[in-house]
Amino acid sequence: MQMMEAIENDQNIPDNPTNDDTLPPPSSQPLSKNAQKKLLKQQRYEAKKAEKKAAMKEQKKREAERKRKEWDEMLARVSEEERSKLIESRKGLRKERMEKRSEEREKKVERLSRAKQQGQNIVVDLEFSDLMTPAEIHSLVQQIMYCYAVNGRCTSPSHLWLTGCQGEMESQLQRLPGFEKWIIEKENRPYIETFQDQKEHLVYLTADSETMLDELDPNKIYIVGGLVDRNRWKGITMKKAKEQGIQTAKLPIGNYLKMSSSQVLTVNQVIEILLKFLETRDWKASFFEVIPQRKRCEADMEENQGDIEEEENEEEGDQLERKRKCVESPSHG
Ligand SMILES: C[S@@+](CC[C@H](N)C(=O)[O-])C[C@H]1O[C@@H](n2cnc3c(N)ncnc32)[C@H](O)[C@@H]1O
Repeated sequence: MQMMEAIENDQNIPDNPTNDDTLPPPSSQPLSKNAQKKLLKQQRYEAKKAEKKAAMKEQKKREAERKRKEWDEMLARVSEEERSKLIESRKGLRKERMEKRSEEREKKVERLSRAKQQGQNIVVDLEFSDLMTPAEIHSLVQQIMYCYAVNGRCTSPSHLWLTGCQGEMESQLQRLPGFEKWIIEKENRPYIETFQDQKEHLVYLTADSETMLDELDPNKIYIVGGLVDRNRWKGITMKKAKEQGIQTAKLPIGNYLKMSSSQVLTVNQVIEILLKFLETRDWKASFFEVIPQRKRCEADMEENQGDIEEEENEEEGDQLERKRKCVESPSHG
């Protein structure tokens, strides 16, 4: 199923695109040994994932074929009258399913439209497209797509904004089938202009902030840096927010999880955590649900501990390749 169909149908959220953040650096400099090792691991992981996906697709196809065959055989066994009845009843079921789907779609449109009036404002700051390669921008677009789908499924969705949407970023987004119908705010202007009358309400979320997010304030506008940079641009959002004189905050990951490496998450992880928190008001549950298991606990503790130490010593690290081994923090068990 095409990713857009999945979003449109609201049946299936596309694959979590988190790993798209793990592309090799665009730099022409040779990779260090550690970076090569990590890249290899990541490539193996990606290959396995692709293999699994292909196997699942194949299995689905076989299953559909099996069902079709069963159906044909059943029709061949029964009388003419019985056959018409069966076909009619199947048509009815299909119609019912379609109606249910379109009802769900309508409800989603209602929820998202309501969110425009009363949903928590969450902004994706798209002003960094000049700092990313087209492949990284593509990865970000996938993440945004994912966030949009997840938000649409929330009982009380947030009011999502894409600000500073220009250039390659804008072209890639516009190439998405159905993008023009998305119920999301698309702004070419930077957030600082878009919300010029509400500057005091702007809070830039950044892992480099000293302020720990405690609650989400419905009056605040939370900004997430639209960057897939593998932390190449360390501290860039903190610097930007400081220069603009706006508040900053980091997710309270450290209060609930022990991470053995960077707490820098991807755009879709951050937004998903915010969405989960808005539904549950429970940071711990939100972190555990969104931060992938493989980044929290690894079976081979010793081997990975080595990796983490190496990674921590590296100047330029791939935050997504990093093994984020985390365990519950005892103080919040
Ligand atoms: C892949 S990160 C970009 C990292 C980038 N080097 C920076 O300086 O922000 C994408 C965005 O997710 C948000 N983010 C990631 N981890 C976070 C954390 N632990 N707390 C708050 N926001 C976070 C930030 O807005 C960040 O800009």
